[in-house]
Amino acid sequence: MLLSGLTTPLDVLALETWAPGTARQVLAAEPSGASAPVADGARAVLRLANISLSFGGLAALRDIDLDVAEGEIRAVIGPNGAGKSSLLNVVSGLYRPDQGEVWFGDHAFRQVPTAQLARHGVARTFQNLALFKGLSVFDNVLMGLAHRVRAGFIRQVVGTPLARRIEAENRAAAEDVIGFLHLQEVRDRIAGTLPYGLQKRVELARALVARPRLLLLDEPFAGVTLSEKQELAQHVRGARDCYGTTIVLIEHDIGIVMDLSDHIAVLDYGRKIADGPPAEIRANQAVIDAYLGVAHEDETELAI
Ligand SMILES: Nc1ncnc2c1ncn2[C@@H]1O[C@H](COP(=O)(O)OP(=O)(O)OP(=O)(O)O)[C@@H](O)[C@H]1O
Ligand SMILES: [Mg+2]
Repeated sequence: MLLSGLTTPLDVLALETWAPGTARQVLAAEPSGASAPVADGARAVLRLANISLSFGGLAALRDIDLDVAEGEIRAVIGPNGAGKSSLLNVVSGLYRPDQGEVWFGDHAFRQVPTAQLARHGVARTFQNLALFKGLSVFDNVLMGLAHRVRAGFIRQVVGTPLARRIEAENRAAAEDVIGFLHLQEVRDRIAGTLPYGLQKRVELARALVARPRLLLLDEPFAGVTLSEKQELAQHVRGARDCYGTTIVLIEHDIGIVMDLSDHIAVLDYGRKIADGPPAEIRANQAVIDAYLGVAHEDETELAI
């Protein structure tokens, strides 16, 4: 067992500076002067306002507005190169937009401070797997709590009852999500030795362990088998239903997207060309054209 005391770097990563469930202090780096947004009906957990991003001469995102309400599963779809990952990278602070703002609840950012993302209740997975392949499943999941560490705090509390309590709470949170995602049987396996679909599930567990308010998933079903895909989709739905997590999901499998999402935003060449419930999107001619890459004459529907 890697975590038997408070002596490894991973022990240090597993510690936190506040008790789960208590109010968290939120610091808005680069706050904008605008007033707090209020979505129609439900409050927006995430709001993008006029986001544009370019790489040299290439416009990856053009004037994107997006409201994601509390508790919804919001898919972002579009052909390859449409700007989907760029959008998540802006939301998670990896890219700084040329213009526009990202809002998490009442806090607005020109550029999201990546280091503070988890403290704003935001977690993400990546299009390409980003696991610690040499660590066990359990320790990978525990890494999802690493943001709760402050080195100075660690030095002060090592070996104290407080440190032991925090470690116990973090381990309990990891066990909980491992149970929730049915990973108990592979709990002690080295993550890199697992089938790809299970590795994707471990990545989901690591993103969920801190019980994020907002979870950003970039192609969580890519490269897995059909049955693994259906299982993972149920777990994503379960995260929303059981943990109340709001989810933004990038996915190419239109069937899964239609089944799983409350609303779907469609990007094409960096523009948002449609945004609405699945039935509306399925029949939207601009969306069909974007996917087929042809001008239309007949009314048709997206094949799912
Ligand atoms: N770091 C980068 N540097 C230069 N160009 C980039 C960078 N990131 C993305 N792009 C370009 O921006 C556009 C949008 O890319 P993005 O990865 O956001 O698309 P995507 O919708 O996620 O595509 P896919 O479905 O293939 O994952 C593409 O033309 C891509 O080549
Ligand atoms: Mg992408």
